[in-house]
Amino acid sequence: MYTELVMDHVMNPRNIGVIEDADAIIKVGDPKCGDSLLLFLKFCNDIISDTKFMIKGCPAAIATASMTTEIVKGMTMEKALELTDKQVADALGGLPDEKIHCSSLAVGAVHAGIRDYTSSSDGNDQGFGESAGVGLG
Ligand code: FES
Repeated sequence: MYTELVMDHVMNPRNIGVIEDADAIIKVGDPKCGDSLLLFLKFCNDIISDTKFMIKGCPAAIATASMTTEIVKGMTMEKALELTDKQVADALGGLPDEKIHCSSLAVGAVHAGIRDYTSSSDGNDQGFGESAGVGLG
């Protein structure tokens, strides 16, 4: 059902944890299954300098969150806003059709975190945005 790479990210998720001085903290959830993700983002100028996450989710959600953090770390905000669920799934060697929606959690959280941060008045406020059911379906 899952590729070897997906299983590697499930068994050894990258970037699990919290960033105490994060610039954006985003909580997203899928109301259908109850899975949820807490994503921390740290920015340096327009670069995502660090990101970590905590998750209660299915294997596909864990693997895609892990892969998403690997992909966006070091990326410009502009590029990260262009990241799609499909690109993350492809980077993992694919996901079963019925699990594609699980990648929306992490990608949606990255997009929401960047938007929260960039829409804050001076760009230095911490963003504690919360979104539910981002891009699922
Ligand atoms: Fe809920 Fe995968 S089944 S995110």
